[in-house]
This record gives sequence, C-alpha cells and structure tokens, in this order.
Amino acid sequence: MKRIFLALASAALCICASAQTVKIHEKAKDQPVIPAEIYGQFSEHLGRCIYDGIWVGKDSSIPNINGYRKDLVEALRELKVPVLRWPGGCFADEYHWRDGIGPQEKRPTMINSNWGGTIEDNSFGTHEFLDFCEMLGIEPYISGNVGSGSVEELAKWVEYMTAKDGTMADERKANGRQEPWKVKYLGVGNESWGCGGCMRPEFYADMYRRYQTYCRNFDGNRLFKVASGASDYDYDWTEVLMKGAGKNMDGLSLHYYTCMTWSGSKGSALQFNADEYYNTLGKAVEIEPVLRKHEAIMDKYDPERRVALLLDEWGTWWDVEPGTNPGHLYQQNTMRDAMVAALSLNIFNAHTQRLKMANIAQIVNVLQSMILTKGNEIVLTPTYHVFRMYKAFQDATFVPVDYSAFEVESPSGRKYPGLSVSAARSEDGALHIALVNTSLDSARELELSFDDLAVYSAGNSRKVAKKVLVHKVSGEILRGPGKGLASAAAFNDFGHPDDVRPAAFTDFRTEKGNVLKVKLPAASIVTLVIE
Ligand code: AHR
Repeated sequence: MKRIFLALASAALCICASAQTVKIHEKAKDQPVIPAEIYGQFSEHLGRCIYDGIWVGKDSSIPNINGYRKDLVEALRELKVPVLRWPGGCFADEYHWRDGIGPQEKRPTMINSNWGGTIEDNSFGTHEFLDFCEMLGIEPYISGNVGSGSVEELAKWVEYMTAKDGTMADERKANGRQEPWKVKYLGVGNESWGCGGCMRPEFYADMYRRYQTYCRNFDGNRLFKVASGASDYDYDWTEVLMKGAGKNMDGLSLHYYTCMTWSGSKGSALQFNADEYYNTLGKAVEIEPVLRKHEAIMDKYDPERRVALLLDEWGTWWDVEPGTNPGHLYQQNTMRDAMVAALSLNIFNAHTQRLKMANIAQIVNVLQSMILTKGNEIVLTPTYHVFRMYKAFQDATFVPVDYSAFEVESPSGRKYPGLSVSAARSEDGALHIALVNTSLDSARELELSFDDLAVYSAGNSRKVAKKVLVHKVSGEILRGPGKGLASAAAFNDFGHPDDVRPAAFTDFRTEKGNVLKVKLPAASIVTLVIE
C-alpha cells in the first residue's frame, strides 16, 4: 500500500514538474511587422489626465518644460510612445476646438458634463497637444467632434492644424505657430452609438461619409480617417459600418474594456480574491475571440484588408479609489493590471494583419494608466513597466509560436489559460520573447525550442557547438513581492513607488544548443532578448 502511494505521488509530481514545450518558429517567412501603434496611448480631458497629469502650466512650481510635467515627459520618453489619442473619449464630442486656441487667459471655460461637471478652462488646447506630441516624437491622433459639432467645425480644425496657407493657417500663425503640424490620424466621432450622439449605425455611417468628405489633405499631410466603431460584442455595428461606409474609411475603431460589469460596482482595483483575479484575466483574454469576430466581418467587406481595425480604447476599469471624484476615474493599478496588459499585448501582436493600433486608456491618472501623479510626486505603475519591457516589440517582425497553454483553475472551478507567449524579431536582429505565467501559486518550467538557433546565457558559451551561431540571452522579470494573491495585488503608490519593478531575470539555461529552459515564477511576466 505504501509503495502504491509513493508511486502515485511521484507520478503526480512528474506531471506538475514536466516542462511545457514552446516552439519558436524564428525562421518563419512573410510574417507581419507589429505596428508601433499597437503600443499606443489615450489621453482625455477627464479627471487629472491632462491637468496635473500632462500639463501643469508654465508658472507651476512643479518642474516643467513649457508647462508639461518634466518627470512625466522623462518617463514617457522611456516608453517610446508611438501615438497619442486626444481630446477624448466622450469629451471629444462636446469639445469645440476654437475654445482652446489663442491667449490662454482669454479662452472660455466650459462644464465637462461627461466627467464630474468639472470646469474646463481650455488652457490645454490644440497647440499644447500637438507641441507635446512633437516634443516626444509621438504621432497625434485627433478625435473629432461629430456628436455636437458640425462638418464645418471639423473641416476647419483640420485646415487650422495642417494647411500651410489660407485663412485658417493665418489664424494659427497669429497664435504663434508658423509651420503646420503633421497630423496623421483623425477620428470622426467617438462612441457614436452612445456618448457621441446615440446614433444608429445606419445613420452614423452616412454621417461619417459626409464628415470625412470635407476633411481634406493639405500640403502633403495625408489623413488616416477613422470611423467610430463598435464596443465589445456589437458585431452589428461593424457589419453596418463596413457595408455602408467601408470604402470611405482608412480605419474602424473598437473599444473593449476589462470591466466586470457596466451596472453597479465594477470591483476594487486593490482588494480582490483569487476568483476575481482569474475572472479578470479571463475577461481580458476574451478580447481574442472578439477581435476575431470583428475581423471576420471586416474580411467579408474588405478581403484585401485595406481598412485597419483600431482598438483605440482598452484596459481595466475598476471603481474609483475611495474618496476621489467618481467622475474622474482615478484608479490604482496592481500586478493584476500588469498581467492584463501583458496578456492583451501578446494577443494584439498576433492580430496585426488587421489590427493596426491599440490605445490603452489612459496615459496618466485615469483608468489603467502608466503614471500616477500627486503634487510634485510621480509613480510608475506596474502597467508602465510592462509597456517599457515590451517596447522592443514596436515595429518588430512577428515570430509565430506554438504551445499549448497550461490551464489554471480558479477556486470556484473555472479554467483559464495559465501561459501566454509572444515573440518578435527587431530590426537589429534580436529575438524578443514575452512570457506570462498567470498562476497565482505554481511556477512553470518551459522548454523554448528554436528552429536552428543556438543559445547560451552569458558566461556559458563553451557549451555551444562550434559551427552554430552563438547567441546571448538576457531577461527581465516583473512580479510583485510576496506570494500568491499578495504578490498579484502588489502596487506602487506615493510613499512606496517601487514595490513592483522589473528586475534582471536569470532563471534559464541552455540545453542541447537550441533549447532554452526557463523557470517562470508564479504570477510573473518575463521578457527575454536573444541577441
Ligand atoms: O475612457 C473613458 C471613456 O470610456 C471614454 O471617454 C469613452 O470613449 C469610453 O466610454
């Protein structure tokens, strides 16, 4: 009896300890380049995203560069932000751009009715936004007002920003900017089915056709026109838009939030149990079939894949932090949010045949932000660290990966994928691999095998056969301190800004020249570079 028990015990151990093979097809041909814009950001006049977040004004005691927070500028430089959407969101369909130009003290105020009734003083407007993008080498993505604006208003905004000469250009010059800006992305409305005008898709498709007609390309500036798309599972919106206006658009947007309910409490960003942790990750990866379904509809009307799908809002959405304005959507950000970011980015990397942009909501102080600010202080969230660790995927060539994900089981018995992998090769020839272990309590052994790549970790070169190429491996890991749920709930805040921060990762070794054995700790995100 004792012997049988021992045999069973070692069999179980064997199953748990057996490594999962991940096959990296690093020689696969004709793979798409992952557009840098997949790592895009979103900013809105909402809560403290613009004011206190990006903009403090030139006279502020907070160190700034022409009014932009210096610490934020430096942090964003590290991320290589490719594209930034502005001024909303719902705000965009109530925004009248003329209120935000000219001498700041003369700009009219408005009530920001979407977001807490806050008084907007318009001190951050077109010049402030486009100069910010220019300073950081970011592609601007302007979201135009269709809901409460007019065709003329949007057409003139485009002219003001991008024409070299003419009445609008003269006005811009009088406001201090001689040369036009380059503006590529133009959103024609936002959530036109909801806060952007409660329109039916048939009506909006016609509105879109009309508005886009008058948004002209001036002096070599080529607009990439984006129609306001569906939310989540609204496939009908995509169908009607593609059918009615697909030929008139360069891109169609989509919004998908990892939000557990749209009615009642969305849950706390910081307090959650293991079930809630796994359900959240389950909701995040549900975007994969959602993307597939929207893409299939687009394929029907646009088999050449000329029209891009732009996921121009995504991320986690929790209850606001206690004591903050419910209309300001200020939420904390834990290692759980970082896992959502990494899982989502791995999915987006695999969809770039159609998906050409993704903008996480939002860049600072709102929803799943990169950065939190308070007075002079700044905190980089776990999500920021994911974006920093993944930045080599921008403009890298996708590398297909085969693996069957471990399953993890939540305490209430629901099953979720336990592993997520993505790989890409950057222009300098380096191979980048991102690995996510979602399990709260089990480390995972992986065997990464490559077509014919020989790898070694630094200081281990003698093991490699003479003839094969020698490659150096380095890695980074992101995980919270402690174990289990405590590690997944770890976060950075004022007073403890570095609880979750990337560290060097060395838990790998080569075997037989082209196999890399990696041990992924529980609830961790690892990026590897093979040079
Ligand atoms: O990001 C917050 C809001 O979410 C945006 O303003 C809106 O487009 C979406 O509903």
